[in-house]
Amino acid sequence: MKIRPALSADAQGMSQALDEIFAAGLRKSAGDPDWVLAHYIVQEHRIACSVAENEQGRILGFQSLRHAVKGNPYGVSEGWGIIGTHVSPHAARQGVGSALFQATMQAARTFGLRNIDATIGEANGMGLAYYEAMGFRTYRSQEGLISKLYRIDPMTR
Ligand SMILES: CC(C)(COP(=O)(O)OP(=O)(O)OC[C@H]1O[C@@H](n2cnc3c(N)ncnc32)[C@H](O)[C@@H]1OP(=O)(O)O)[C@@H](O)C(=O)NCCC(=O)NCCS
Repeated sequence: MKIRPALSADAQGMSQALDEIFAAGLRKSAGDPDWVLAHYIVQEHRIACSVAENEQGRILGFQSLRHAVKGNPYGVSEGWGIIGTHVSPHAARQGVGSALFQATMQAARTFGLRNIDATIGEANGMGLAYYEAMGFRTYRSQEGLISKLYRIDPMTR
């Protein structure tokens, strides 16, 4: 498995991963390549977006990190990071999410982030368990969503 920054040419493969997550009932909607391109790859507040691909070049999953600007639609504090993780159920529990998080953390430190928000559906046990395992801790809940926070110690930058 290789972890690398997402490129425009990955939109199709990332969309396929979202389709697989949707088909498994783990996501409310899929996301066509144009939407993936705009929402993750060329998103204006992108700090990082990494893909995990296997030896055949198939996208197994991806993780995005964006900068929370004033008035962001997620209600996340200005200046924080906002993370999202999407791993195909065909590749689940094989360390893909953990490997993606290492790349994201490197980018977060380089950017100088101090806090990262992960907001997960309260019924999404695997998402909650994953972020908890990565070191996130619950700091608020609202309307069926649980938000977890990862604090970055500036001394470890
Ligand atoms: C949640 C998700 C990102 C995990 O990705 P992954 O590649 O399977 O994660 P990893 O294999 O790196 O697992 C890391 C750790 O997270 C925890 N974890 C991951 N999946 C879990 C599950 N289904 N149940 C319990 N713990 C889980 C475990 O502690 C795991 O470590 P371990 O396997 O050594 O016990 C992936 O399942 C996914 O994309 N799900 C659908 C979309 C989603 O829910 N995204 C997150 C919320 S928006």
